[in-house]
Amino acid sequence: MTQDEMKKAVAEAAVEYIKPKLNKESIVGVGTGSTANFFIDALAEIKHMFDGAVASSEATAERLRAQGIEVFDLNAVSEMDVYVDGADEFDSGLNLVKGGGGALTREKIVAAVAKEFVCIVDSTKKVGVLGAFPLPVEVIPMARSYVAREIVKLDGMPEWREGFVTDNGNLILDVHDMEIMHAKALETQLNNIVGVVTNGLFANRGADVVLMGTPDGVETIT
Ligand code: 5RP
Repeated sequence: MTQDEMKKAVAEAAVEYIKPKLNKESIVGVGTGSTANFFIDALAEIKHMFDGAVASSEATAERLRAQGIEVFDLNAVSEMDVYVDGADEFDSGLNLVKGGGGALTREKIVAAVAKEFVCIVDSTKKVGVLGAFPLPVEVIPMARSYVAREIVKLDGMPEWREGFVTDNGNLILDVHDMEIMHAKALETQLNNIVGVVTNGLFANRGADVVLMGTPDGVETIT
């Protein structure tokens, strides 16, 4: 089974997982990335079962609309039962590293609103210790160098993702060489650096359930 086949299988499993939770008024939060794209395609098959979606990026909004799913502004939504999104890494505590696609801030906002965060990954995303995947940090442009210096003091090696601008008009620093033993504390510490918008650690609000595509089928991890 290829990685894409595992992503597609887990995306289809996610649709089966959320189906019983949906009604005609439901709004589904939708993440960003290639796994989320497979999810959008599978979600389109049941679009008659819910009202619409909130997107975590412009790219996701465009794909949802192309599939005939109405996209709502988060400010117009008071309740969201479920948010479905991929991840770059997850550990046994269901802490995540996200933001490989640069959509981390909107992803974190939508995840915060949702009652349940369903993370969909293939088995290559499972790690013992987070940090092998460079940790994305979204920064206000004028603060880029200052934030980078502060991250070096925390023993991280920040690299500017040159040429990339987020949907919010900001920049990304990808932090290499982090062995993340205390994910919640590091998430808070990085967010406390002035000029940081948010970082890609989803630990204080991690996933509630991980659906993991493997060559032998989809595993549910809680
Ligand atoms: C985007 C993300 C994605 O969820 C993450 O990068 C995983 O992407 P993919 O499903 O393409 O492997 O956080 O900001």
